[in-house]
Amino acid sequence: MVKAVVLGAAGGIGQPLALLLKANPLVTALGLFDIVNTPGVAADLSHIATPAKVQGYLPPDGGLKKALTGADVIVIPAGVPRKPGMTRDDLFKINAGIVRDLAEEIAITAPKAFILVISNPVNSTVPIVAEVLKKHQVFDPKRLFGVTTLDVVRASTFVAEIVKDTTISPNVTVPVFGGHSGVTIVPLLSQSSHPLPASFDQTAREALTKRIQFGGDEVVKAKDGGGSATLSMAFAGAQFAEKVIRALKGEKGIIAPSYVHLAADGAGGKTVQSEIGKDLTYFSVPVELGTSGIVKIGALGPTNDYEKSLIRAAIPDLEDNISKGESFIQPSK
Ligand code: NAI
Repeated sequence: MVKAVVLGAAGGIGQPLALLLKANPLVTALGLFDIVNTPGVAADLSHIATPAKVQGYLPPDGGLKKALTGADVIVIPAGVPRKPGMTRDDLFKINAGIVRDLAEEIAITAPKAFILVISNPVNSTVPIVAEVLKKHQVFDPKRLFGVTTLDVVRASTFVAEIVKDTTISPNVTVPVFGGHSGVTIVPLLSQSSHPLPASFDQTAREALTKRIQFGGDEVVKAKDGGGSATLSMAFAGAQFAEKVIRALKGEKGIIAPSYVHLAADGAGGKTVQSEIGKDLTYFSVPVELGTSGIVKIGALGPTNDYEKSLIRAAIPDLEDNISKGESFIQPSK
């Protein structure tokens, strides 16, 4: 039995994500919470012939608590998305408070659940959730994840386009480290499972790196004020949630990229910190998942000079984003 819960379930990401979770036969209960429209979304999804029993909740009468009760996996896409010209950090003012309030109830009602944070700026909202959980003395770094899957999905798609074979895109893996915004997104193209052609020079490499880092802007621009990535994000979020669910059900050896607290496993996090030459608390890394969450944090491995420069460029923004999130909850930090 697996109960998945979506907070922000009536939104642009929330609805298709709820659909994909409803379609997943591993999910047996699906709780949908939002400040609007969840009864309609839940009624609609409930007619789909898959195992999950769907319930929609609104804030009155303890709706959030009811949605979270018994949750195994909580996915959070609640909050406002970007409009053209905005950075993810511009969303902090509104989304920080939304995520904090949701985390307060999670700490009380579902402290053992796996928490998957989609709401931006992920680099800061993940530390916000961690600080709230710490305040309630229920923080387990093994169970908290910033969802960076879309960066990896984009990298796979763009590399497959360059290799001119889109049929391979589901099998292309490009490790993406760092964080989830602009220059903090560090794709290691030198470690692509499908090597780039010999004709792919440094200029092309830099252009592809930039496209992966700022791929979200393509969607924001094309939607022209209508928001940011929703459908590709729902796909990526559902893919990550499925990996977490398969791992919690006992499947071994599942590895997924995520923005995590580097203390989630003793040794791996320290290796990453020594590779980047900085004691950052949070970083996007491939993590091995198990029944209790993160089992192992993967190292960066060999990087070329260009990739080293990308990591150096990511660190100051990441430090700022992390401390902004932490001090939102603990002003003394
Ligand atoms: P949206 O505006 O379409 O949906 C957000 C939903 O959150 C709305 O239904 C709204 O009613 C709900 N909401 C607002 N306050 C709430 C609260 N206190 N409790 C519960 N629900 C609440 O936005 P969209 O496009 O779904 O994006 C959601 C978030 O995901 C944004 O912050 C966006 O930046 C982020 N995002 C993250 C990505 C990632 O890779 N991690 C990629 C794309 C977007």
